[in-house]
Amino acid sequence: MKKILFVCLGNICRSPLAEAIFSHKTQGLNYSCDSAGTAAYHIGKQPDHRSIQVAEENGIPISHRARQFQAEDFEDFDFVIAMDRSNYSNMKALVNYEPKNLYYMRDFDPEANGDLDVPDPYYGGIDGFNLIFQMMSRSIDNLIAHLDSEK
Ligand code: 4NP
Repeated sequence: MKKILFVCLGNICRSPLAEAIFSHKTQGLNYSCDSAGTAAYHIGKQPDHRSIQVAEENGIPISHRARQFQAEDFEDFDFVIAMDRSNYSNMKALVNYEPKNLYYMRDFDPEANGDLDVPDPYYGGIDGFNLIFQMMSRSIDNLIAHLDSEK
């Protein structure tokens, strides 16, 4: 069983949606996933209503309570996937070694063109949530193909 962790800042917009998409696309397969945030602001909260809306519009069940990323997560998960460069450096700063299992979501986006960030949609409107949904959905398709090919 491979374990995948999706990480953003607040763990209420991007990463719980990524977790829901991954979970939906890998139903019945040998993967488990979770999500976390580098910040503590929203611990215990449900996903943002806009992430819930976009998930529901796309037929994807979503259920999560926000938790904070901790250094031990690097040991517990096979893949730790940052939504943006700031999440990546915040996680890396928690350990004094080079984490070998730390990636960017957009490492797996065939349309990234070198852009490493899934943009933070928190202060924008629903359009930003639809954009990140598309971006994460195609990245996750590619991530799953990568994971399947590793077996
Ligand atoms: P997320 O979005 O990192 O995708 O969950 C955010 C949620 C909350 C805040 C920032 C980003 N905030 O500043 O409270």
